[in-house]
Amino acid sequence: MVEIKSKREIEKMREACRITALVHKKIEEAIKPGITTLELDKIAERVIRENGGIPAEKGYPSYEKGIAPFPGSICASINDEVIHGIPSGRVHLKEGDIISIDLVVAKDGFNGDAARTHFVGNVSANARRLVEITKQAFFEGIKYAIAGNRIGDISHAIGEFVEKNGYSVVREFQGHGIGRSMHEDPGIPNYGKGGKGIKLEPGMTLAIEPMVIEGKPDILELEDGWTIITEDASLSAHYENTILITEKQPEILTII
Ligand code: MF3
Ligand code: CO
Repeated sequence: MVEIKSKREIEKMREACRITALVHKKIEEAIKPGITTLELDKIAERVIRENGGIPAEKGYPSYEKGIAPFPGSICASINDEVIHGIPSGRVHLKEGDIISIDLVVAKDGFNGDAARTHFVGNVSANARRLVEITKQAFFEGIKYAIAGNRIGDISHAIGEFVEKNGYSVVREFQGHGIGRSMHEDPGIPNYGKGGKGIKLEPGMTLAIEPMVIEGKPDILELEDGWTIITEDASLSAHYENTILITEKQPEILTII
């Protein structure tokens, strides 16, 4: 069931999303060679709590048996890590890395979800192009995120754009509805056919999140039960915002 948010609920979504965007800004300012992903995690947790929010990823349960809940306030995924990298005091960023930060803030019962991929110092032209195309794929997708269109229209636009530019989309993970829960219906794949899937209605709040790989689409999960990496060790980038469906162009709630 896809929830339609009321006016009051949308105001709460706005606030959770505002904090999400603010945290991304603070992390971006802190990223430099030498800093650890755990230090970034601590900055995120501090800013979230200072704003009355809760880091919703911390303690998020795994779907796999025997895997401990996610320990971080952010997912920090470097280079060939696609998503769900665990913050660590032993992982220092180095010049030339790209790092995807994905974070979810809960406040007053509602969630905001966004991801960005940052450059650490100077990065290769290849890496820059990958990150730029991933971000653009989101904007290609949301051109179709208008009441009356279907989920498949967004999925198709993202997948086509990514592949036209010579990259692969991750198929095992997808965007999602978001609200009282971090993950709600509908699922929003980053590939697919136009005209398929549920019809969009004003008041739906969706997290659209292209996950893009420079090389082959295949992924692996590390022993930690969380970190997803590319099988061919090529680079990967992630870009995500929470949006609100309206009669016209969607509102992007996690950009301030
Ligand atoms: N923020 C992720 C998403 O975009 C989910 C993170 S999983 C968690 O859907 F365990 F880290 F919370
Ligand atoms: Co998400």
